[in-house]
Amino acid sequence: MGRLEGKAALITGAASGIGQATAQLMAKEGATVYLSDIREIEGEKAAQDIASEDGNANFLPLDVTQETAWEKAVEAIMEDTGHLDILVNNAGIPGAGVRIEDMELETWRHCTTICLDGVFLGVKHGIRAMRKGDGGSIINISSIAGKIGIPTSGNYCAAKGGVKLLTKTAALECANKEPRVRINSIHPGFIDTDLLAGAIQHRGPWFREFIEYNVPMAELGTARDIAEGIVYLASDAAKFVTGSELVIDGGYLAR
Ligand SMILES: NC(=O)c1ccc[n+]([C@@H]2O[C@H](COP(=O)([O-])OP(=O)(O)OC[C@H]3O[C@@H](n4cnc5c(N)ncnc54)[C@H](O)[C@@H]3O)[C@@H](O)[C@H]2O)c1
Repeated sequence: MGRLEGKAALITGAASGIGQATAQLMAKEGATVYLSDIREIEGEKAAQDIASEDGNANFLPLDVTQETAWEKAVEAIMEDTGHLDILVNNAGIPGAGVRIEDMELETWRHCTTICLDGVFLGVKHGIRAMRKGDGGSIINISSIAGKIGIPTSGNYCAAKGGVKLLTKTAALECANKEPRVRINSIHPGFIDTDLLAGAIQHRGPWFREFIEYNVPMAELGTARDIAEGIVYLASDAAKFVTGSELVIDGGYLAR
């Protein structure tokens, strides 16, 4: 019996990286998984790969910045299964790589719209859907950048810090209402995905050296390392956990 047997899960930004690894692990743990992304070809393929290994996986196109797209995606899942038990607000893009004094408002908004507004919309529609069933678990992917400042990532840090406190507020609003919805944030450190590869390429090789020198475990994390934390928070093993911050960072924030 898997840890998520019988549960329906929606994961945003699931065409690659942490979202894809989470979908793979959740399917192995018995969940019916709905992968979503703006990259439809890659997302469809990720769902097919899971299905080809006997996982229960489907793809739904979803741009997290569009409220009507959220309504459609949640409605499709409710029609399909009658319940939504897990939502992982994972879709995101990297920071600007530009100092605040040089940052265009458009650059600021591009990141905060996807990384913060997108999570707000997910939490809103996730709670509404979960209340129609037996409640559920929402996991918001923040970052170590939601707990500390990082030069040239002002838009990303502001968005991820916003996700941290949006999570706590939503958790408090839901804590003593039945059916219960638990809401937690995860704070990954430097994880080996396309997003980090892009940030290293944009900033230059010094950034990789900075990471390897400053992460106490002296290596990048894997998408699976984060997926394991997400599955724990999604599972009934975490039934008393809400409003918390799970840091998975190889010791980076412990320094
Ligand atoms: N990789 C890291 O080091 C790291 C560290 C901390 C936090 N995170 C966070 O983890 C999450 C996943 O990132 P990843 O590292 O797996 O990167 P990734 O680039 O592999 O995955 C991000 C996914 O989000 C999708 N996406 C982007 N904009 C979208 C939108 N508007 N609507 C729907 N989907 C959209 C992309 O298409 C992509 O598939 C992000 O929120 C990121 O900020 C990553």
